[in-house]
Amino acid sequence: MLNLTGKNALVTGIANNRSIAWGIAQQLHKAGANLGITYLPDDKGKMEKKVAELVEPLNPSLFLPCNVQNDEQIQSTFETIQDKWGKLDILIHCLAFANKDDLSGGFSQTSRSGFNTALEISTYSLVQLSGAAKPLMTEGGSIITLTYLGGVRAIPNYNVMGVAKAGLEASVRYLAAELGLQNIRVNAISAGPIRTLASSAVGGILDMIHHVEEVAPLRRTVTQQEVGNTAAFLASDLASGITGQVLYVDAGYEIMGM
Ligand SMILES: NC(=O)c1ccc[n+]([C@@H]2O[C@H](COP(=O)([O-])OP(=O)(O)OC[C@H]3O[C@@H](n4cnc5c(N)ncnc54)[C@H](O)[C@@H]3O)[C@@H](O)[C@H]2O)c1
Repeated sequence: MLNLTGKNALVTGIANNRSIAWGIAQQLHKAGANLGITYLPDDKGKMEKKVAELVEPLNPSLFLPCNVQNDEQIQSTFETIQDKWGKLDILIHCLAFANKDDLSGGFSQTSRSGFNTALEISTYSLVQLSGAAKPLMTEGGSIITLTYLGGVRAIPNYNVMGVAKAGLEASVRYLAAELGLQNIRVNAISAGPIRTLASSAVGGILDMIHHVEEVAPLRRTVTQQEVGNTAAFLASDLASGITGQVLYVDAGYEIMGM
């Protein structure tokens, strides 16, 4: 039943082979989905080259620049989907950003601009991309974003990103309530800590991972592929009754009190 053949999936957030989005793209591809990949462009074209090489084996039929702070790039991404695919079935929102300075030390010292940047890129982008995807999801759809426990508990150093994730999880519920009328499901996966480019900016990330390995029921953290498997499930008809939820893929860490 986990068959995504004939489904068009847009995957954001691949930076390298450690990216959670890379794990998701691989599992969607295995399930038969037709992929469109976006990357964060830079002046020298380095990211474009790196991501293009990485994703080549997955034969994406679209490969587009999309900085979520750039309205024109967002518009152009969805216009291309309309032109080339005609419809969109799956949207993977797998990106976040906060200044490194705001990911350690005291939360009360967060600057206005640092707060705004983190919330704009990490939270508002889900709202904007979902709004752009809505008219293209003519046969229903599945929107999936990535969150972390720091959105519901105070985790050392996660700071402003915790506020961004709280906003993201609330956005999932509001989007699910609205888009359900069009049979579009919206869910979040709350992943356990994984070493990636983004997580390396969080102060003490290795301590967080080691703590999870000691305490989680499965005595380990999770892999990008495990998150990818859950995303493939949520994208598929197997999850047709699930929307507005935050699903923990964290080796069980979230249930522990001590
Ligand atoms: N790694 C973890 O431990 C962990 C745990 C739970 C949730 N998450 C979440 O997973 C998601 C993916 O992060 P990751 O850990 O795979 O790290 P990553 O660094 O591989 O991915 C982050 C992505 O965000 C993209 N990005 C940043 N600013 C952008 C912008 N303005 N426009 C477009 N893209 C932009 C980057 O290019 C990158 O591809 C994030 O939402 C993160 O918060 C990560």
